[in-house]
Amino acid sequence: MNIEEYIESIFPVNIATPLIESLSKPAIHAALLNPKKISDDHFLELFPLAQKHPLVPHAFIYNPAIYDLGKTIYHDAGAFYLQDPSAMSVANFFQYEANDVILDFAAAPGGKTIQAAMRLNDKGTIISNDIDGLRALTLSKNVERMGLGNVIVTNNDLQNVDFKNLLFDKIFLDAPCSGSGMLRKSQAMHDDWSLAKVLRFADIQKKLIIRAFDLLKPGGKLLYSTCSFSYEENEAIVEHLLKQRAAIILPLTTEEYVHHSPKIKEAIYFLPSIFPGEGQFVACLQKPNESSVNHFISPECHSFFNYPLKGQLLKRNDEFYLLNPAIEISKSFNILRSGVKVAVARGDHLLPDHHLAHYLDWENSIELTADEMKKYRHGDTLPRQIANGFYVVSYDHINLGWVKAVDGILKNHYPKGLRH
Ligand SMILES: C[S@@+](CC[C@H](N)C(=O)[O-])C[C@H]1O[C@@H](n2cnc3c(N)ncnc32)[C@H](O)[C@@H]1O
Repeated sequence: MNIEEYIESIFPVNIATPLIESLSKPAIHAALLNPKKISDDHFLELFPLAQKHPLVPHAFIYNPAIYDLGKTIYHDAGAFYLQDPSAMSVANFFQYEANDVILDFAAAPGGKTIQAAMRLNDKGTIISNDIDGLRALTLSKNVERMGLGNVIVTNNDLQNVDFKNLLFDKIFLDAPCSGSGMLRKSQAMHDDWSLAKVLRFADIQKKLIIRAFDLLKPGGKLLYSTCSFSYEENEAIVEHLLKQRAAIILPLTTEEYVHHSPKIKEAIYFLPSIFPGEGQFVACLQKPNESSVNHFISPECHSFFNYPLKGQLLKRNDEFYLLNPAIEISKSFNILRSGVKVAVARGDHLLPDHHLAHYLDWENSIELTADEMKKYRHGDTLPRQIANGFYVVSYDHINLGWVKAVDGILKNHYPKGLRH
C-alpha cells in the first residue's frame, strides 16, 4: 500500500481526494517573529508580500522564491524562526501563564520551545529535550540564535531520567513519527513511507505518551502532536493513553481551518487541502485535579562586560551560564545549555559568548550602518573611537554580536561559522 491508497482507506472521500491532490503542490513556509527584536509592522515593511498566519500571532506566511528569509541578517540575528505553518500552530494551543514550568519532550530543532519561551517572556522556564545528540545541538544553537534566557537544553532518553519531584504545568510531546504530513517537503520520505514504518513508530509513541503524561502535575496539560496522517500514530495513541491513565481529553477548536477526527472529536488534523501548511495531528490531554504553584530560585545580580544581568549562575568547566527564572533540576539530566551562555574563560580573562549578545536589549549596543553591518558580517574590523572593552553591535536595532574595541579599532568577534 502506498500513502495515497492509505489516505483513501482512512479518510472519507470528500477529505481524501483533495488531500491527495494537495500532496503534489509546493510546501508552505512561515516565519515566527521574535517580538523582542522585530515588530509585525517592521517585518511587513521589509517583506511586504508576506501574509499574516491565520492562527498564530506575530507569524507570517511567505514565499521562499520571493524572500529567502533564511539567508538574511535578520534570521542570523534571531528576529524570526522559520517553520511549517501547521507545526507552528501547535504551540499556539496553550495559554501561557507566569510561573509555568514546561517540558518539551522531543524538541529539536525547537519550534515549540521557541514559541513557548517567547510567550513566557522570561516569566517561566522550559526544559527542552531531544534524545538525538546532533539534533539537540541544533536545538541549542536555535535557542542561542533566538536569544532565549529561560530554556534548559538537555539531551536525554527521558525514560531513564530521575526527575526527583519535578513535574510540569505543560508538556509538548511532538512525537517522532512516519512523517506522512511532511511528504511535500521530501520525495524520498514519500517513497520511503510504509505501514510497517507507521507501526514501528506507534510502538514508540505509546511508551512516550505514558511517560509524558506521568510527568504532568495534577491539572497539567499535554499537547500530543505528530506530522502524520496515520490513525495508528494519532487517535490510537491517544486512545492508548485514555485506557492506561485517568486522562481528560480537551477539545481543540480553530473554526474552519481543521478537520476534526471522526474517531476523537476533540482532536484535530491540519491538512494541506484546507490549511496553508503541511499535515499535523494535535490532541490536548489533561491530568485531573488542581495544580500547585512553582517555586523558582531567587535570582542573583551579576555584571558581565559591564552589562547588569539577573539569574542563577552556573559554571561548567570554563563556561558560564545564567538561567532566569531558574528551577532545580536533578543531576541525572545531560544539560547542554542552562539559560544564556554568557562567557567562556580563556586563561585569566573572560570572552563574551554570542548567545549573550542575542539575549541583551539593543539599547546599549553600537548601532551599525548597512555598510558597516556587511563588513561586520564578513568578519572585518571597523574604526570607532570608543573606550577599550567588549561591546555588542546592532543593525536596525537588532543585536548582531560582539566586538572588542582596542585603540580606536572594533575587532570582530562575529562567530566564524556565520560570516559571509
Ligand atoms: C517531530 S520532531 C520534533 C520537532 C520539534 N518539536 C519542533 O517543533 O521543532 C521529533 C523529535 O523527536 C526526537 N526523538 C525521537 N525519539 C525520542 C525520545 N525517545 N525522546 C526524546 N526525543 C525523541 C527526534 O530526535 C526528533 O528531533
